[in-house]
Amino acid sequence: QKSDFGLIGLAVMGQNLVLNVESRGFQVSVFNRTTATTDEFIAKHPGKKLVGAKTLEEFVQSLATPRKIQIMVKSNAVKDSDRDAVDAVIEQLIPLLEKDDIVIDGGNSYYLTTERRDKYLAEKGLRFIGAGVSGGEEGARKGPSIMPGGPASTWEVMKPIFESISAKVDGEPCVIHIGTGGAGHYVKMIHNGIEYGDMQLICEAYNIFKAAGFTTDEMAKVFNDWNEGDMQSYLIQITGKALEQKDPETGKSIVELIVDKAGQKGTGQWTLLNAAENAVVISTINAAVEARILSSKKKARVAASKELTGPTVNITTEKAELVKKVHDALYASKVISYAQGLDLIKTMGEAKNWGLDLGRIASIWRGGCIIRARFLNKITDAYRENAELSNLMLAPFFKDLLSKTQQNWREIVSLATLNGIPVPAFSASLGYYDSYRAERLPANLLQAQRDFFGAHTYERTDKPEGEFFHTEWPEVIG
Ligand code: 6PG
Repeated sequence: QKSDFGLIGLAVMGQNLVLNVESRGFQVSVFNRTTATTDEFIAKHPGKKLVGAKTLEEFVQSLATPRKIQIMVKSNAVKDSDRDAVDAVIEQLIPLLEKDDIVIDGGNSYYLTTERRDKYLAEKGLRFIGAGVSGGEEGARKGPSIMPGGPASTWEVMKPIFESISAKVDGEPCVIHIGTGGAGHYVKMIHNGIEYGDMQLICEAYNIFKAAGFTTDEMAKVFNDWNEGDMQSYLIQITGKALEQKDPETGKSIVELIVDKAGQKGTGQWTLLNAAENAVVISTINAAVEARILSSKKKARVAASKELTGPTVNITTEKAELVKKVHDALYASKVISYAQGLDLIKTMGEAKNWGLDLGRIASIWRGGCIIRARFLNKITDAYRENAELSNLMLAPFFKDLLSKTQQNWREIVSLATLNGIPVPAFSASLGYYDSYRAERLPANLLQAQRDFFGAHTYERTDKPEGEFFHTEWPEVIG
């Protein structure tokens, strides 16, 4: 009997995904460059509907047509011009495949790379799906959130498998056809940008508690409690658990033993670049990416800490009150981060004609993925009520939430600032909120400056829109 699905690349994610697909009743063929890994994997799972192929030819031959082959090899490309391991596998596969076979890339590929592959394979009569898969190792095994892009007709073929292996929330699978071409990987990239924002915001909350003298156990309790309320989310949950964790050798908190240098693999930076290209403000995500960058410059920070002065930390707010205020600052900032990320998705979706459904995208993030959270339901509702919503902040639920939380949000940004505690993402979020709601910004002066030095012209408040003026400014000497 031929297999329903094939997977190339048996690293942890690949193995987990295979076991997930198999557990839903499909027979799966696997191939790995090192055959020993394949043999070990098959031997470890006796009695399962798995076929271990020793060669790529054997692997391809073991699959029912149209073949459905997912590539899960580590991509090492940074720019689209780089050819990576996924391209290498595709090249090896092409001569072995038949018309209409489907190749799926489930890694974090850059969306333009996906568009290139989509076009290339289409020229060869093959079908390609660039699918964002979120949820880490556990998600891959038990049910990830899947963001597939590519032709709708290819999605229809993949739908039964994708829907059965994905996470489910309220009985709904956490996968939809996102759009054509690179839409799936694009939306996954923004998911990651939002993931960066969520993580940084949580870290800023932690940093304030730490400065206020909370023990890690006290902090763990705060996050565990929050996970029971309106801010319930996977990232809040794992934060509570991480803070509880003790080092078996020293008995100390593991979190406090970890060096404060953050890594990143690139999707957050791609999100920033894309936002800049589209002239969309994603200042919270921006701050989150930059916070990782500054954190990684540990040596420079240690040296500067001895040179640059700041205030002495003195937080006198009572602990329970501080918890409430930080909760509101975190929640409000999180809303801003999603508002920005969704604005970018909307803008890009329109530019690319992807026909994206923001409400449904938010709904497939409710389960399986790293940013899964209770409040995503509210985002789905907001777009169901108004598909044309210009900015998430303006949906009734979020408008009200921002109005109720903003006093505490402002107090936390002030308190942190007065105490010299960096809160780049909290304050960037607040800055966005205050700028977006400002009827008037100081850009009139900016326009005057532009006209002054470069005769760039300006519009006037007392003249119709679209009419441009220039002033003969005085000459400046020196
Ligand atoms: C997910 C994650 C995942 C990502 C890691 C690492 O949705 O499962 O986004 O795809 O690769 O979280 O990302 P960084 O190394 O950039 O933090």
